[in-house]
Formats: sequence, structure tokens, C-alpha cells
Amino acid sequence: MHPTRIIALGHHQPDHVLTNDDLAGMVDTSDEWIRQRTGIVTRRIAREETVADLATAAAGKALAASGVDPADIGLVAVATCSARDRCPSTAAQVAGRLGIPDAVAFDLNNGCAGFTTALATADHSLRAGAARHALVIGAEKMSDVTDWTDRSTCVLLGDGAGAAVVGADPDAPSDVLGIGPVVWGSDPSRGDAVRLMGDWQPRFAQEGQTVFRWATTELAPLIEQACERAGTTPRDLGGIVTHQANLRIIEALVRRLGADGVVVARDVVDSGNTSAASVPLALSKLVERREIEPGAPVLLFAFGGGLSWAGQVVTC
Ligand code: ACO
Repeated sequence: MHPTRIIALGHHQPDHVLTNDDLAGMVDTSDEWIRQRTGIVTRRIAREETVADLATAAAGKALAASGVDPADIGLVAVATCSARDRCPSTAAQVAGRLGIPDAVAFDLNNGCAGFTTALATADHSLRAGAARHALVIGAEKMSDVTDWTDRSTCVLLGDGAGAAVVGADPDAPSDVLGIGPVVWGSDPSRGDAVRLMGDWQPRFAQEGQTVFRWATTELAPLIEQACERAGTTPRDLGGIVTHQANLRIIEALVRRLGADGVVVARDVVDSGNTSAASVPLALSKLVERREIEPGAPVLLFAFGGGLSWAGQVVTC
């Protein structure tokens, strides 16, 4: 069976930059508190743009960079938990705007783990012969679901999108990793730890310390498992792109994994937590800046509401 691989990436963020000092003018917080507890310095906020606009912009760049004909895209998946439109799905809107004529197009909500879940779903579909190419997108307008009077959450979130064109590669030798085996799951006993609940105006809420403790104790073994299943180890990776929720979590993980020499995504500093967009956004930036060697194994791993997690080692 031909391995599937990420052929090209793209990302898009709104122009408007919201600084920590801007937030200090809105709620009782400070630049010092936000930097110290989260590492976040700025985040981008969409004004007019919708989730479909953000997703289309990122996906259009990935599609153009891939050289794949839109007619050859057989699956479009948008990972999002903040899209306001339920039907038609954001994915169907993106397909329409990009001239993708007859792909299966659906949204997937697995909170912040949505993109890595969608990437595995696309990989499995391609391997099963259900499509030749897939467009996998993570897009969020978290500012729409933020309580701007709650200092414990509004300082964390941001808007943006990242996208990947994925395809089976008939020319690649079968020992090329491409998209490695997924490690995914959920823990409903911690289901209340991250919430976006309510009828028409849901607002993001979380038990920050519960998630922090979980991420700094239980994430490393899952990442080691993803590496082992891909035939590598954390220290041998060419890049680490975990969910961009908190710089302290990222630094603690890297130490715990013994991966100090590895290129690590720290996009949370500039972009805040963009939920399902955070992994493809950070990956696309690292690849664009050529910080990741072509063909090097890169760990993608995300976690969030559910609590749920999904990740895999990829080459791109
Ligand atoms: N500015 C100033 N003070 C604040 C702020 C703020 N923005 N927010 C909270 N505080 C105060 C609290 O009121 C509290 O005050 P008190 O001691 O007088 O009661 C104090 O700071 C400490 O609050 P904690 O919530 O304990 O702060 P903590 O160090 O845990 O940091 C944070 C909070 C940043 C949310 C951290 O817990 C975290 O990052 N957790 C992980 C979150 C995560 O990874 N989520 C991922 C899944 S969800 C998603 O990605 C969309």
C-alpha cells in the first residue's frame, strides 16, 4: 500500500493583533501575569472574517502550493469547534469557494484535537481507497466563543487556520513514513475540564489546573507511544508540534521527553491558543521558515475538550 503524505501546507491569520496590554485595558490582568503563566505575548483576532473565510484562505494556499487539481480532491475535512454555521458545513463552503467539485465535505469537532483527528481520518480514508487526495483544515474563530469579561480565559485564545493537502504517493518507497499511525483516545471522567456548552451563544470555559496537570503528566507517555509506533523516539524527531495552549506545558513536555535538541513549535507566544487550528498553523509556519528538514519525522500531538487527544508522527 502506498503511504499517504502531507504534500503541502498553508496557513492564515487575521490582521488584527491583540496585545497583553490591550487585554489589561479590558479585564483585571497584566502583561507580566499572562507572559509568566502562559508565555503568550500576542494573539490575532478576526473581525469580519468567519471560520469559513479563515479556512478558505489557509486551504487555498495549501492547494496552490500542492499543485493538485481541485477536481482531484476527494475529501475535505474542517476541524473546528467554533464555526457558527452548522449546515452547510464549513467544509462544504470551503469546497464550493475553492472549486472542488464533488468531494465528500464534512466538519469534525474534537475540540483542540480536531486537526490531528481529521488528519488520521483522511489518512485512513485514502488508504482505504475512498479518495486520492484530501484537504484537511483546522480553523477557529475562538473570539466568537470567548467571554471577554472572564480574565481566566479571554487572555488565552486566538483566531486562525492551517491546512494540509494530503495524498497517496505512488512514487514513495513503502518504508517512507508519510503519515504515521495515530494514537488517539478520550477520558470522559475529565469531561468537564474543558467546555464549550450552551444553546446558541456557547462560551469557552475550563478548569485550567486540571488540564495543566493532565498535560504535564499524562501526555508524554502518549507521545512516546506515537513515536514508537512510527519507529522513532522523541529525541530523534526533526520537529515537535504539540497543541499550542501554554508555553509552560510545551517546555515541561520537551524536558520530560528528553528532546532538548529538537526543533519545537512555540507559536503560542505569537498566536495564543487557536484550538484545532494551532497544530497546522504552527507546523505550516515552521515548514515555511525551513526550520524542519524535508523528510524529517515531525510529531503532531493535540489535546483538549473531552478530554480527548490525537497525534501522529508525519514527514512532510
Ligand atoms: N490575570 C491575572 N490574574 C489571573 C488571570 C489573569 N488573566 N487569570 C486568572 N488569574 C488569577 C486567578 O483568579 C487566581 O487568583 P487567586 O489565586 O487569587 O484565586 C490566580 O490567578 C491563579 O489562577 P490559576 O487558574 O490557578 O492559574 P494557573 O497558574 O493555573 O494558570 C492557566 C491558568 C494559564 C489557564 C493554566 O492553568 C493552563 O494553561 N492550563 C492548561 C490549559 C490547557 O492546556 N488547555 C488546553 C485545552 S482547551 C483549549 O486548548 C481550547
